[in-house]
Amino acid sequence: MSNTVLQGVNLTKVFGWGKQKTVAVDHVNFEIRAGEVCSIVGESGSGKTTLAKMLLGLLNPTEGEIYFQGKKRDISTQRKKKEYWKNIQAIFQDPYSAYNIFNKIDTLLLDCIRMRGDFWLPREKKIELMSEACSFVNLEYKELTNKYPFELSGGQMQRLMIARIFLLKPKILIADEPTSMIDACSRATILDMLMKLRDEVGMTIIFITHDIGLAYYVSDTVYIMERGKIVEYGSADQVILTPHHPYTKRLISDVPKIHEAWDLSTVTYSGL
Ligand SMILES: Nc1ncnc2c1ncn2[C@@H]1O[C@H](COP(=O)(O)OP(=O)(O)OP(=O)(O)O)[C@@H](O)[C@H]1O
Ligand SMILES: [Mg+2]
Repeated sequence: MSNTVLQGVNLTKVFGWGKQKTVAVDHVNFEIRAGEVCSIVGESGSGKTTLAKMLLGLLNPTEGEIYFQGKKRDISTQRKKKEYWKNIQAIFQDPYSAYNIFNKIDTLLLDCIRMRGDFWLPREKKIELMSEACSFVNLEYKELTNKYPFELSGGQMQRLMIARIFLLKPKILIADEPTSMIDACSRATILDMLMKLRDEVGMTIIFITHDIGLAYYVSDTVYIMERGKIVEYGSADQVILTPHHPYTKRLISDVPKIHEAWDLSTVTYSGL
């Protein structure tokens, strides 16, 4: 029995036409299995976010098909779309842009409970659920209730996004460069929380990044994307330890090798 949760067949997105035409995603094929962490790695402009938006149903593919749990995805009506979004959710690069900044934090979390279909629960139960979600990401619900998103730090906001996901419990989470706006320490925390979502909630995670080192750290499988095309894929070990495509090799050679001693003879001192 196949445990593929999400599959793309010849997925393509073309923006514009004539001289303005951009083939952002070009006949991409992939299969993501339940419970795995799958990274999509590529440089800026390679089409990662465009692919993510098609998977989420925020952009229509120009060509190709998406299969969810073995069936062709049908989001032709608003009701079907809402049903689909119970299964697939995302965290984006810039968490502040994703939400109405005039809504307080508790409204944002209450919305998730409503989306789950649990709006009829008594208020105490809702508060219990929100508190549990906050403590999953090491945030204190009581300290957040009356705050607005812009009153939180980047790292806190990113953690709040994960608390939302904890409440919604989708089958699939797409994390699009979720750590690019925060410092190294918060980045490690966010990655650990994503792993916790996989291990404790059993979520399938699609992790989008330009950082192949980070992809190696978090993923089971890796897809390398160059100018809209998947040029190499396989297990994280296969792709990163024995890369075949020149583009993958280049991405790997760009990762700073912290274990190698610095060659100080190449450093020139000025003014000494
Ligand atoms: N709405 C749009 N209209 C026209 N072109 C677009 C649109 N969205 C994306 N593109 C183009 O599609 C290509 C892929 O963009 P995309 O945002 O998917 O890249 P990305 O891999 O996510 O990059 P980054 O790492 O910088 O986030 C780029 O050339 C971009 O300019
Ligand atoms: Mg992007």
